[in-house]
Amino acid sequence: RDGTTFPHSLIVGEIGDNGRRLFTAFMSDMTEQVAAEQRLADMQSELIHVARFSAMGTMASTLAHELNQPITAVVTYLGTVRAMLDEAKTGDLPMIVEAMAAAEADAMRAGSIVSNLRDFVARGDVEKSVNSLNELISAAATLASIDARERGISLEVLPMPSDAHVLVDKIQIQQVLVNLIRNACEAMEQSAERRLTISCTMQNADSVRITVADTGPGINGNLASDLFGAFVTSKSTGMGLGLSICRTIIEANGGRIWHEPRQGGGAQFQFTLSRIRLEVADAG
Ligand SMILES: Nc1ncnc2c1ncn2[C@@H]1O[C@H](COP(=O)(O)OP(=O)(O)O)[C@@H](O)[C@H]1O
Ligand SMILES: [Mg+2]
Repeated sequence: RDGTTFPHSLIVGEIGDNGRRLFTAFMSDMTEQVAAEQRLADMQSELIHVARFSAMGTMASTLAHELNQPITAVVTYLGTVRAMLDEAKTGDLPMIVEAMAAAEADAMRAGSIVSNLRDFVARGDVEKSVNSLNELISAAATLASIDARERGISLEVLPMPSDAHVLVDKIQIQQVLVNLIRNACEAMEQSAERRLTISCTMQNADSVRITVADTGPGINGNLASDLFGAFVTSKSTGMGLGLSICRTIIEANGGRIWHEPRQGGGAQFQFTLSRIRLEVADAG
């Protein structure tokens, strides 16, 4: 059989070092899997192209993008094992077990990608209501505090001295806060000082500004200009979707979001929301 045209590094690379010669025997079986991989890649780029600007589209294309690799790997491992069983060589048993374990691990990875994505699903339609800013922040902080405590992070919430109100989708804004808080916690994993501060203030007469600041290493300079783009990540298991979703949500709610270095080190993310005066809300 002719193994030269097949990109076999995927299998050989992942199944231990005794398998090289054996795997070349299965190469004729791989054509189908390469085609499957190509179909997934095509689907992925099409989805990215079609739905670049919608949050649902971002999710769909991320799914295609992220699931492509583990699913292709599972298909490949299972195909390899089937071929091994066909040959029924008793000596292959340890390798069969190893390939099954690899397939299992990749299937689990695919599963965890799906459950991570669930975090980002917008729950139903946009439902705007009048919300106290201080209440929004303290609800998000409560969600975050368990996680923060586990990671040895001290959390400080600075409410507005005199509260302001915003007309927003509460769940969405909390989702933004949770994403920013999660990033901050992840950024501080290796830091000696771990302090997370959430504060808000008046930006001007018509809008408020919320700040999530951390004492992590700050934003990686190479990523800084495109941080809010989809799939931009510095993490090995990251999806690079959190900030992209944040921007979509904030802009849909009439605000702006940006990041800057924190004074004294670390990063801070800020976003604005239009303030409404309660008299106006009551009248309208
Ligand atoms: N608080 C922060 N400090 C340093 N870097 C950050 C912070 N928040 C985000 N980043 C950078 O922005 C990237 C994109 O973040 P995000 O869109 O949430 O995706 P993900 O968290 O999956 O990587 C991160 O990978 C990280 O490099
Ligand atoms: Mg994130």
